Amino acid sequence: MDFITEELRKLRKEDLLRTLRTIESAAGKELTLSGRKYLSFSSTNYLGLANDPRLKEAAKKAIETYGWGTASSRLICGTTRLHRELEERLAQFHGSEACISFVTGYMANVGTIAALVGPADAVIVDRLDHASIIDGCRLSRARLLVYQHADAKSLENVLSGAHGYNRKLVVTDTVFSMDGDICPLPDIVTLAKHYDAMVMVDEAHAVGVLGEKGRGVVEYHGLEGQVDVVMGPMSKAFGGVGGYVVGSDELIAYLQNKCRSFIFTTAPPAAGCAASLEAINIIEKEPQRREKLWENVSYLKKGLAAKKLQMTNSASQIVAVIVGEADKAQALSRKLFKQGILIPAIRPPTVPKGTSRLRIMVTSEHEREDIDRLLEAL
Ligand SMILES: Cc1ncc(COP(=O)(O)O)c(C=O)c1O
Repeated sequence: MDFITEELRKLRKEDLLRTLRTIESAAGKELTLSGRKYLSFSSTNYLGLANDPRLKEAAKKAIETYGWGTASSRLICGTTRLHRELEERLAQFHGSEACISFVTGYMANVGTIAALVGPADAVIVDRLDHASIIDGCRLSRARLLVYQHADAKSLENVLSGAHGYNRKLVVTDTVFSMDGDICPLPDIVTLAKHYDAMVMVDEAHAVGVLGEKGRGVVEYHGLEGQVDVVMGPMSKAFGGVGGYVVGSDELIAYLQNKCRSFIFTTAPPAAGCAASLEAINIIEKEPQRREKLWENVSYLKKGLAAKKLQMTNSASQIVAVIVGEADKAQALSRKLFKQGILIPAIRPPTVPKGTSRLRIMVTSEHEREDIDRLLEAL
């Protein structure tokens, strides 16, 4: 096992070693670590729902009825009424025929891609797609073809040269998790139609946030019904845990039968479904959360621009300040931490070498004075 010692030594030397922080409070804009409060800009709790009393109450009630664990996989006897209700509600929220939910968003991506394409097929991805998409592609054993980031011309080059495959699937994040920019979805849909490819989008950082009703980039671009497979999160703006896919009745029946990350795992607790159902109600009833989020995003971006800090081309609530080398980003993150601000440095392999960054995630819970404090510290 010498390779482990050696690998850890290497990671430590390059300032790439990751360690766990222990949080002693609920997820919110302030987190307690070792008894000290930190102002956090590092969570995906975009609408402040992770510690909402209504979600907690819904989860508690569900535990009273269904207990904590499900003690079975979904297809055996782990599907409660709440699992069904949540899937119906998610389908309705997205204006789709049906929905299948998963224990995590990671499992939704990995399992769905591997069920849709195989060794005789091609899967076509953006260079900056999320790791869970890439892992799904690898698991599928389909030929992996990569196009330049958010570049429709490059996608067309790849599609036009992709001959001899049985099926073709284009998969993209809609909001890119490390840069905060948005994929050119209208072009992707047009090109996929032209070259007879299926389209799958990962709306992890868009659902609840983008689109008039918070239904994501598909809604934002008015493309409902034109994307074959839409993956969404319960783990970001919903403030909970889990992932899902919405699409046609047939797609969902197919995934229920073919998707290994759905079939061969224990069903998530019904309490999580109850909390997610409540989250959808709140997202629909309280658009002011989204409005506040966007006000905060715009205030932060103006402040960063005034300080001439190099940002990624963000069009969302994910705003990254590029630092460069991992050790510099890490040093900056440590300095902020000393001042009571929590923004972990994002380093390779999560982002390409030389682009280590501070990824700032604002939420609807932040106030202007919080953002001022961050700008001052930066
Ligand atoms: C774009 C994207 N897709 C999928 C996932 C996986 O979702 P989950 O955390 O629910 O597993 C994440 C983040 O974790 C993500 O950023």
